[in-house]
Amino acid sequence: MPAFIETQFPIARLSAESYKERKAGASQTLTGLGKWWGRKPLILVRAAILGMLMPASSDPKRDREIFLKILTMDDDGAFQRWKRADRFSRAELGILAKHSERERWSELDGELERLKDEVKQLRLASSAIARGDAAAKAAARKAISEAVEAVNTQAVALAEYIEVLQTRAFYRSTYAERISRCDRPENVSGPTEAAWAQINAHLGTTATSIEELVAQLGQRTFGHTPRVGDSFCGGGSIPFEAARMGCAAFGSDLNPVASLLTWASLNLLGGGQELQDEIRCFQQAVFSAADKQITEWGIEHNERGERAEAYVYCVEVKPEGCEYYIPLAPSWVVDENMKVIVRWHQVPGLDYLKPEAFVVSNAEIEECKRTGATVIDSRVVDPFNSSRSWSIEALRGTDGLRRWTNEDVLPRPGDVFQERLYCIRWVQTVILPDGRTQEVRRYAAPEEADLARESKVEELLRERFSEWQREGFIPSKVIVSGYNTDQPPRERGWTHWHHLFTPRQLLTHGLLASLSASVQNQRLSVLTMLNMGRLADWNSRLSCWLSHKTQMSRGKNTFLNQALNTLFNYSTRPLIALIHAQISLADQTFNSTQGIVKPGDARDLREVCDLWITDPPYADAVNYHELADFFLAWYDKQLANTFPEWTPDSRAELAVRGDGEDFRRSMVEVYRNLARHMPDNGLQMVMFTHQDPAVWADLGMILWAAGLTATAAWTISTETEAVGIKKGNYVQGTVCLVLRKRTTSEIAFLGDVHPQVEDEVKRQIESMQALDEDGEPNFNDADYQLAAYAAALKVLTQYGNLDGRDVEHEVFAVRAKSEKSAFEAVIERALGIACDFLVPSGLDATWRDLSLVERYYLRALDIESRGERRKGMYEELARGFGVTDISPLLKSDKANGARMLTPGGFAASGLAPLSGGSTETLPARRGRVGSGTPHPFAASALRHLLFAIRETTANDNSPEPGRQYLRDTFGQGYWGQREGFIGLLEWLAALGNAEGMNEWISDSEAARILAGRLRNDHA
Ligand SMILES: C[S@@+](CC[C@H](N)C(=O)[O-])C[C@H]1O[C@@H](n2cnc3c(N)ncnc32)[C@H](O)[C@@H]1O
Repeated sequence: MPAFIETQFPIARLSAESYKERKAGASQTLTGLGKWWGRKPLILVRAAILGMLMPASSDPKRDREIFLKILTMDDDGAFQRWKRADRFSRAELGILAKHSERERWSELDGELERLKDEVKQLRLASSAIARGDAAAKAAARKAISEAVEAVNTQAVALAEYIEVLQTRAFYRSTYAERISRCDRPENVSGPTEAAWAQINAHLGTTATSIEELVAQLGQRTFGHTPRVGDSFCGGGSIPFEAARMGCAAFGSDLNPVASLLTWASLNLLGGGQELQDEIRCFQQAVFSAADKQITEWGIEHNERGERAEAYVYCVEVKPEGCEYYIPLAPSWVVDENMKVIVRWHQVPGLDYLKPEAFVVSNAEIEECKRTGATVIDSRVVDPFNSSRSWSIEALRGTDGLRRWTNEDVLPRPGDVFQERLYCIRWVQTVILPDGRTQEVRRYAAPEEADLARESKVEELLRERFSEWQREGFIPSKVIVSGYNTDQPPRERGWTHWHHLFTPRQLLTHGLLASLSASVQNQRLSVLTMLNMGRLADWNSRLSCWLSHKTQMSRGKNTFLNQALNTLFNYSTRPLIALIHAQISLADQTFNSTQGIVKPGDARDLREVCDLWITDPPYADAVNYHELADFFLAWYDKQLANTFPEWTPDSRAELAVRGDGEDFRRSMVEVYRNLARHMPDNGLQMVMFTHQDPAVWADLGMILWAAGLTATAAWTISTETEAVGIKKGNYVQGTVCLVLRKRTTSEIAFLGDVHPQVEDEVKRQIESMQALDEDGEPNFNDADYQLAAYAAALKVLTQYGNLDGRDVEHEVFAVRAKSEKSAFEAVIERALGIACDFLVPSGLDATWRDLSLVERYYLRALDIESRGERRKGMYEELARGFGVTDISPLLKSDKANGARMLTPGGFAASGLAPLSGGSTETLPARRGRVGSGTPHPFAASALRHLLFAIRETTANDNSPEPGRQYLRDTFGQGYWGQREGFIGLLEWLAALGNAEGMNEWISDSEAARILAGRLRNDHA
């Protein structure tokens, strides 16, 4: 029996939930434990596990309803999650209510006002009654009280009606709008009792919680509680969610930092409320002890009784020929909110400049943002003479910078780049005259006493340096060369991880580490390690200083992006600003005893799991093994003590990376190993986030060669555009490929495979179309195309051998760049079948008579009218229709702003004029050299039709010239094609009504008029 996920997946709703989870930023459940790149949304994992465990029945609609119920993603479930504080405003209600409801509402409102008015009148009348007229007074009082009663009753009726409208408005909103007002599914207690009754009736279970349901479904399929594993567990989303659902969870990752994060997710968050309380107490105790020590040292307090809240440093250089050191920063605005800037002055007799902090006007802030930068386009600019500048590259010298030694914590005199503290934010709590307290803040450039405190910090650090390195309280590891890790040595001369931290940072972090060291408890040791990682991320020489307009300025974290970019100015946090940087545990806890984490190479795993869900570093741009060393440097020694069986090394040589042959071989080995370690009825899901369809064929072949057979594929939008890995097109979707173990080794012949693929593509698309709900489609174009690929994969991967060729041989065969494997050819053909099968609605009658390029243009317009702007999708479509060059058809080819040309647009780009011009070629665009070969669209009937539309617009919507053009162009053929033309024109006439298709409004109107003229045309 297939699993639910092999037949369907609620893509639209899941995408909305995943997006919401991502947008939750710091309040995502696991991110508070520490930085990892490419974390998968928990709701996606939850849905995947459930979809793999839940059997599909013969009633797909009911399956879907039940599936959504379990996840509280059905309509009632979402309603239950609705945060009542987040209600619709009156204005929103006004928009969402129906006309009759608005009328009723205003009726109730009006009646309430009338009744209130009546009370007013009665009160007025009562006041006019003579004092002695007790009877009249009593009667008036009675009347008033009755009228007040009526007002109250009416107010209740109005409130109740508004409540009804609130509920109706909720159900009327789109799913994405609804859940913007809801708690995330993971934050509510699960389905209601009534929902459980329906779930159990459909599934034949007796569950009252997700854990019970999971146990019962697992028992039924595997004979035990299901075991869910992830061999590339990273930040731990998959094992964590599996454990939270009641599965036996297994997580493994080559990188010990990832393994530690996963261990923490299972054992710290999974440790229940008691542990959370213990952790909070421990953290507080360590911070109080550190606070006491720092106060004793006197390194963060000044003579005015203020305490430092932020330090800002910069790099400075003295280029040859310059008389002074130039402090470097892309801007000297320190705090836009408090309107503070720093200016530099020359001091006679000194070769360094003196900073001064000023509070200035808005205009001066703007001026300071525009001018005054001392680093522009990788050049150092003299602050007093902007015509003098020096290339930073040249300043580093031909031999590069001096390499720092382990003992260096600051640049040495003579080093090219020096370091300066140039601004401090001080805070003081004052008592106001009314007894309340207030925090008063100010920025100041460092004074002599502050510089003396800087020296004291260095001295205190030096006294402890060797011992702290030995104990592992501060890093001692050398930076291993790599793509990202070569940047700090090249740009600053840093050779050890501790060089990425100022002496103040090393002293504070080292102090906190040493104060936490006495714990013997494994969970608190892990907490301490992750705390050190969090502090390192939020407080390093790579933490940029961010001046804010609307809130307090502050230092950001090192890994704002996935690189080790050095900075010219940066923040350092004193102790009080580090409290918020330490581990923050999510509010929700659970009790799990079944999670196992074992770091290691996925090729060597020996654990058997019923379900493997993996998110491999597939053609990944993240160098996990390099970046994670930044964290590992802070706790490698503690890690070795806490987990003696773990290797405290990133083992870069074993990391799966890149996309070449080595990568393919490693991937085949990994997935063959996982297939070996699952039962015959087990399932796998491979997630990957990539837009290039070429990788499909590649990954498909890898999994095929590993002995797996694909059974379904779904795309979920998981990434927000801003955080995606930018590689031409923004990453937007995560593809989830569902696989089973291949248990037969049948031989297939290409000739037999093609019709099977065709049938499978059609079957798949039809079943998806049947599930698409009105108004809220589950699937978009990308999903249909993906389904076509998946259908091809499904057919192909059933076989162990294609036309006598062994799959593994196919995977590793050396090919010329343009040469396609038989596998790729089948996959592309599947896409062609899908493209042809998906006729834009309203074009069924004409579709058959159109050429491929015409179909492409119309389908592309169709997806444009539904809001699709990703260029990759337009390219993908083109592949399906066999159109090799789409650039002459595109108005915009921006990665996320692709649009097709309109008839008017074609004209502006040089569509052939009515007379004289050739209709054979489209013009070269964007510097492309016209090849001389006619573009297939140039001679198409559709293109002539577009030209006729343009002629209509150009002649103030008079259809005559357009009609004449068509008759001249097609001669007698015009009459045979007239019906088709009318169909196409009518379709184009509707385009201008679609949201976001404003550019089509005038052309659509012209198409409508021209269609009318053609209909009335007579020979
Ligand atoms: C895309 S990430 C996984 C992210 C994870 N799903 C999450 O939600 O955080 C891929 C992971 O594969 C790990 N990795 C790379 N090569 C490996 C290997 N040979 N064995 C095991 N893990 C490996 C990396 O360290 C990285 O954490």
